[in-house]
Amino acid sequence: MSSSGFNRIMVTAALPYANGPVHLGHLAGAYLPADLFSRFQRMKGEDVVFVCGSDEMGVAIMVRARNEGINPQDLVDRYHPMIVDAFAGFGMSFDHYGRTTSPVHAETSQDFFRTLARKDVFALKTEEQLYDPEAGIFLADRFVIGTCPTCGNDNAYGDQCEKCGSTLSPKELINPRSTLSDATPELKETTHFYLPLGDFQGRLDQWIGTHSEWKPNVLGQVRSWLNDGLRDRAITRDVPWGVPVPTDVAQELGIDATGKVIYVWFDAPIGYISDTKEWAIKKGDPEAWRPYWQAEDTRLVHFIGKDNIVFHCLMFPAMLMAHGGYTLPENVPANEFLNIEGDKLSTSRNWAVWLHEFLEDFEPDLLRYALATTLPETKDADFNWTEFQTRVNSELADVLGNFVNRTLTFAARFADGKVPALVNPSAADTAALDELATFPDRIGSAYDAYRNREAVFETMALARLGNKYFNDTEPWHTRKSDPQACANTIHVSLQICAALAVLMEPVLPFSAAKLRTMLNLSGVRSSLPDGDQGSIAWQDAGTSLLVDGLELGEPGILFTKIDDDVIEAQKAKLGAPEGEPAEESAPFEPLKELIQYDDFAKLDLRMGTIIAAEELPKSKKLVRTEVDLGFETRQILAGIKEHFAPEDLIGKRVAVVANLAPRKMMGLESQGMILMAEDREGALFLMQSDGENGSVIR
Ligand code: 2FM
Ligand code: ZN
Repeated sequence: MSSSGFNRIMVTAALPYANGPVHLGHLAGAYLPADLFSRFQRMKGEDVVFVCGSDEMGVAIMVRARNEGINPQDLVDRYHPMIVDAFAGFGMSFDHYGRTTSPVHAETSQDFFRTLARKDVFALKTEEQLYDPEAGIFLADRFVIGTCPTCGNDNAYGDQCEKCGSTLSPKELINPRSTLSDATPELKETTHFYLPLGDFQGRLDQWIGTHSEWKPNVLGQVRSWLNDGLRDRAITRDVPWGVPVPTDVAQELGIDATGKVIYVWFDAPIGYISDTKEWAIKKGDPEAWRPYWQAEDTRLVHFIGKDNIVFHCLMFPAMLMAHGGYTLPENVPANEFLNIEGDKLSTSRNWAVWLHEFLEDFEPDLLRYALATTLPETKDADFNWTEFQTRVNSELADVLGNFVNRTLTFAARFADGKVPALVNPSAADTAALDELATFPDRIGSAYDAYRNREAVFETMALARLGNKYFNDTEPWHTRKSDPQACANTIHVSLQICAALAVLMEPVLPFSAAKLRTMLNLSGVRSSLPDGDQGSIAWQDAGTSLLVDGLELGEPGILFTKIDDDVIEAQKAKLGAPEGEPAEESAPFEPLKELIQYDDFAKLDLRMGTIIAAEELPKSKKLVRTEVDLGFETRQILAGIKEHFAPEDLIGKRVAVVANLAPRKMMGLESQGMILMAEDREGALFLMQSDGENGSVIR
């Protein structure tokens, strides 16, 4: 048994919905942290299984497919392979990546459901539910939008408000409307299975109480849910897409399960178990999944983003408790959100860095590294391209790459391309080797405690140590004055390079492999599943790994610097229509005929501040705003619903046509016009300026 009391580690990363490609936010929230952890633990010699898969059920997928006029299966068949490729490109070292449309998953989740039903865990409730009379369908969760009773967000979904994070039931929404037809839903009777989370409150409370070491952002959310009191959650839906409710057990309970499916947040976490089963089947030992889920000496860790906390810290654990025989997570190190260039990530506005696009332009390690230094571990963090460039140029290239390069070039030129022996080491040589010996623990303890930023910072500290030592010992001088001292510098520097080639593997796996080739260093334990189980493990990186006289490989460049224009091009992609850089888009609109100054002077243009904004539910385009013009406040209706979220407009300073005759739209008076710039693709931008409200624009 390992010192921690665990004998194996089960790592899961949130199953991404297969309704779009994966982006930077995904990587930062769950996948990179999970991969760093898994790679580190494998190198340490732990028995790790790391699974993930596409979340292919759920109403969100159905709605998206419906909007595109295709089957949900066709939709997930389009995105699943894209997600698989992007993850592979970034070196996600899954032992298995599955999908929740697989037969193993249907069986596993139905078995789980059946067991709970037979144990009488579920409550059954016959209730009136919202029904879309136009579409002829019950409106579960994402089919209904309306105003959140907690925060007033007008676009809250029937199961969750994405603005304030409240879980909701569709009936709680104020002014509900169907996303399918825009019709106002009616109430109709139906029977559903409920997971009575309240029954688990005591046990969950007690269990969470034993985990005071969890991250404060996670515990904070969990405690607030527990303080509010847990409510029953419906775990079945009347929709045509999902894992069917098992008819046998429904019949036993006198329920007609026709058309009923299991709620996606019930089946998705079971997907982790299905994925582990598929991994076991793949390796020819179908029962091998069990200890990873059912033995007490398993360390189960769920990597997720903060929007998934309640499901992984309360709902899934309650399901596992109810089932019995399952181990509970040792930790759920959820990350906060990642913004991009100071703005909230938004896929609809294309304010995102798509992983497949990044891979067309850069090496994956660059993003792994830059992102790992900025992970939203304790609070929301920001990714920006200029900082990315600085990380690559000033850290990877100037510090790590430079150290490796100068060491290897020196060894090639002045040590015959071999590892020279260390003879009569100086105090500086010994001090550097002593400090080197502390790094496996310094970096490793941070990875083990989910402090990835610190782990990566420490990794770079080793390269900094190398550079400082190299500078201090001045081999370019000793080369002539004291050849043995020069050989010693090369020896120690090479040992630091070798340690780096091992210890940088979790965050920079592709570059670490290149460096090992340059050093001719073999026998390092792989961080990949089924990789080479070489004898050099993580901890050994603190010792001198390269034997005297070892013939080194060819020195090469590990990291190339990124030019400003490359970064500018990336910035320009943000917010631009996907896949089409602005330069190649439609022609500019032709100029209108000339006017005289008097024509222009008729316009009364003013600066104002939007102080309120809301969508008009009945209109496809209109947003109602209130604009403070300094001397008065105007109600202005703008056809910008498809371009701006109302909450993003509030506080924005805008230019207003203040003397436009009032007009009635949808029964409301619009008292002016907000000026916008419309680009060649039809995207709208506000015209902003400083100056007090009411300032005249001329
Ligand atoms: O939020 C999401 O993207 C979900 N698809 C995550 C599911 S995690 C798990 F439980 F499967
Ligand atoms: Zn809300």
